[in-house]
Amino acid sequence: MCCLGHSHPVMTKALTAQSKTLVQCGPQSCNLPQLQLAELLVKISCCNRVSFSNSGAEANEGAIKLARRYGKLKLNGAFEVITALNSFHGRTLAMTAATGQPHYQEAYQPLPAGFKNVPFNNIEAIKAATTKDTCAIMLEPVQGEGGVNIPDPGYLKAVRQWCDEKGILLILDEVQTGIGRIGTMFGYQQFGIEPDIITLAKGLGGGIPIGAFIAKESCAVFQPGDHGSTYGSNPLMCATALAVMEYVIKNDIPGQAQKAGVYLSAGLDKLKQKYAFITEIRIRGLLAAIELNKDIASSIKMTCIENGLMVNDVKPNAVRIMPPLNISNKEIDEALGILDKVFAGVKA
Ligand SMILES: Cc1ncc(COP(=O)(O)O)c(C=O)c1O
Repeated sequence: MCCLGHSHPVMTKALTAQSKTLVQCGPQSCNLPQLQLAELLVKISCCNRVSFSNSGAEANEGAIKLARRYGKLKLNGAFEVITALNSFHGRTLAMTAATGQPHYQEAYQPLPAGFKNVPFNNIEAIKAATTKDTCAIMLEPVQGEGGVNIPDPGYLKAVRQWCDEKGILLILDEVQTGIGRIGTMFGYQQFGIEPDIITLAKGLGGGIPIGAFIAKESCAVFQPGDHGSTYGSNPLMCATALAVMEYVIKNDIPGQAQKAGVYLSAGLDKLKQKYAFITEIRIRGLLAAIELNKDIASSIKMTCIENGLMVNDVKPNAVRIMPPLNISNKEIDEALGILDKVFAGVKA
């Protein structure tokens, strides 16, 4: 989420400056930083309309509401959204239903209706789940929280084609993959397709709470008052995200992430060769997972943190690495050194 590392000066400067002028002005009016940030997102993406939120989950909620509105107006009331198993879309009730991981869902049943979770990277499963009630398919281009699962090259193209055939919407949740994380500004750019709706958060603000869903004109069916948020487009967050985004573009941070990812990948491959309990390295840009042959990710995570390296146990047997996008090779070497030390301590 802190795409430029903690408290990057570009971020703190914009945050401080904006806090001295206008912090909040309510959703009835718009403000200059909001318009400038929206304009920039339209310029760099395949979308034409922008709605801001405070988080990734809220961005996804907005996207689903837009898809349902579209379903009501254009698809005879279709309301259902197909999502993938192992996905992660946030922690609101509806996004818990969208998230295809039973362990996030079990404690909160009954969940809101209207979501079907099908196997990822399987176009036939999507086809089989599509009915006259389906208004959209929502996927992460690369599943992050589910263990860094990278689909086959043709998968998203096939999904796009299916959506076109059925007249339904393709929503890409780029909360994690967006803003350079996998080596291009948006993940979709690596798969030869354009979605109808994209959701963003995390990298967008460089660590401050902001999200957005952005949509193509063809499906932007909201009318004024259909959706909104008190703080969703507040000038404090928008001005800060604008400064972050301008820096990300000017310094080709996605390109830097791509190069750093190649370097990290080579280092992780060496660790895999050294430690037999590492079964797979999955990496795209600077989104990486180390899969292990036993459920020790939680203790690996804790030992890494004790040694000064933040990683995440996204699966009982998989550790995720998601460094800042401007990380240097020297810092990557330092991280690989800590991983090596931690892995050396694992009892066979
Ligand atoms: C792909 C994806 N979507 C949505 C979310 C939820 O974002 P937030 O925690 O900002 O609500 C996350 C958070 O990890 C995510 O990875």
